Amino acid sequence: MAGQNRIRNAQLRSKIMTADQAAALIPKGCNVGMSGFTGAGYPKAVPMALADRMNAASAAGHKFKISVWTGASTAPELDGALAKVDGMELRLPYQSDPTCRKRINAGEMEYLDIHLSHVGQFVWGGFLGKLDVAIIEVVGIREDGSLIPSSSVGNNKTWLDCADKIIIEVNHWQNEALEGMHDVYYGTQLPPKRKPIPIISVSDRIGETSLRCDPAKVIAIVETNAPDRNSPFSPPDDTSRGIAENIVEFFGHEVKKGRLPKELLPIQSGVGNVANAVMEQLQSAPYDNLMAYTEVLQDGMFNLLRSGKMSFASATALSLSPNAAEEFNRDVRLYHDRMVFRPQEISNHPEVIRRLGLIAMNGLIEADIYGNVNSTHIRGTSIMNGIGGSGDFARNAWLSIFMTPSSAKNGAVSCIVPMATHVDHTEHDVQVIVTEQGLADLRGLSPKKRARVIIDNCAHPIFKPALSEYLERAMKYSHGQHTPHILDEAFTFLPEWQADRAAQEAWKEDSVVQNDAWK
Ligand code: COA
Repeated sequence: MAGQNRIRNAQLRSKIMTADQAAALIPKGCNVGMSGFTGAGYPKAVPMALADRMNAASAAGHKFKISVWTGASTAPELDGALAKVDGMELRLPYQSDPTCRKRINAGEMEYLDIHLSHVGQFVWGGFLGKLDVAIIEVVGIREDGSLIPSSSVGNNKTWLDCADKIIIEVNHWQNEALEGMHDVYYGTQLPPKRKPIPIISVSDRIGETSLRCDPAKVIAIVETNAPDRNSPFSPPDDTSRGIAENIVEFFGHEVKKGRLPKELLPIQSGVGNVANAVMEQLQSAPYDNLMAYTEVLQDGMFNLLRSGKMSFASATALSLSPNAAEEFNRDVRLYHDRMVFRPQEISNHPEVIRRLGLIAMNGLIEADIYGNVNSTHIRGTSIMNGIGGSGDFARNAWLSIFMTPSSAKNGAVSCIVPMATHVDHTEHDVQVIVTEQGLADLRGLSPKKRARVIIDNCAHPIFKPALSEYLERAMKYSHGQHTPHILDEAFTFLPEWQADRAAQEAWKEDSVVQNDAWK
């Protein structure tokens, strides 16, 4: 490996070692901050070596666990490997790994599901305890010892600033030409010393292109050569295309009304296949000079940049499929003045989101007839992934859209329900709900009117009569109350739920275990 070129600080070169040697330096029971955001830029060798060490310890009768903090979700080499050996005491702030999910829902692992913009301040504020070790993937190390981030920035700045010890993975697979595409802001403070974040437009650069790193804290450098786990996105199907068409039609309506400019407002697009399909649909929509101020840049958005429909994108991670990653790697220099990667405390900063006036688009698990949204829990109890950045964006955006197929599990379950079994986004943060059936614009509507429009426009025809009937009876029994409900029935109203409790439980288990398609 060309370590000499990638590790340009001579002093730090003496710290190069194997992943096993580096893993041996991580103490049992410590808090470890790792790089990584939606399968991008996570350390790929040390966590696996650590998992081997944990396995060996376990075979010898000693449990060896750590707590793992990251930017967001990672990949099988990190979350998967450590969860398989039961090596995580606690995980935060977001995960989407099937084994992790299973352990959390079996009560074998603690999980803190945190707004992604809050993580940095939680750590500086000392709410999470002391950060012992940081393990950060980078593209290279500069002469001055500063680190060139790879395909995500996430919480790396915070981990490097706060950790006692640092392990660096220099990944030769990551393109060296990423150097210069990052914007690491060092102006954030704890209250009462805070100052405005000076981003006035999406493309503003306010920080440095590399991460500061105290060389005295570096205990190991490991060289790797492995791709991010870039799984392909499912091609848009009729459902996701239907959702996307409804959103694009709504944009047209808003532009006509003068409530959105003709190039729209900066877009935030959530994770997953549906979000990706919406971006794909914008390719043929009559909007040019689009901008994105988002968390994750997936294929759909990359294609908009490539075709010139989008002029600039700001994100914290680049989460591309293998084909798109190959193309990006080939042409990376073309994107230097059209993309910027920021720490997640800035990509998701409420102040900036509010100032820029974003159009936020995120997925959901269930929405209730009054507009409360559950993004995280199956039947209110089992975690799916986590809130991620959806709360950061939904509450502060100019336009907050939640999108979902109208039903899940091959049509067996309605995603529109009387009462959400868990609430991540309250009715106050949800302005538009859209399914392949249609779109409900909830702005300016009181609860009963919202219920009518959500059922009429968004529910699947199979579930519409039952939902309408529930609403009518709830209105009758509530004698005009503000938000009518029949609490005894709110979670069990659908006939099939009442009919077969065993099937319900089996489905619940199945849905929790199997959902790892896009992560
Ligand atoms: N009941 C049970 N399962 C449901 C469900 C419901 N009401 N709604 C969705 N699901 C299941 C789907 O069946 C699917 O499972 P499968 O993979 O086994 O088929 C899975 O959840 C994903 O749903 P899908 O419709 O494919 O949508 P998605 O990929 O867009 O994911 C979320 C939807 C809500 C899980 C996802 O958007 C998420 O994790 N959001 C929270 C974090 C977030 O918003 N981040 C972005 C901020 S920038």
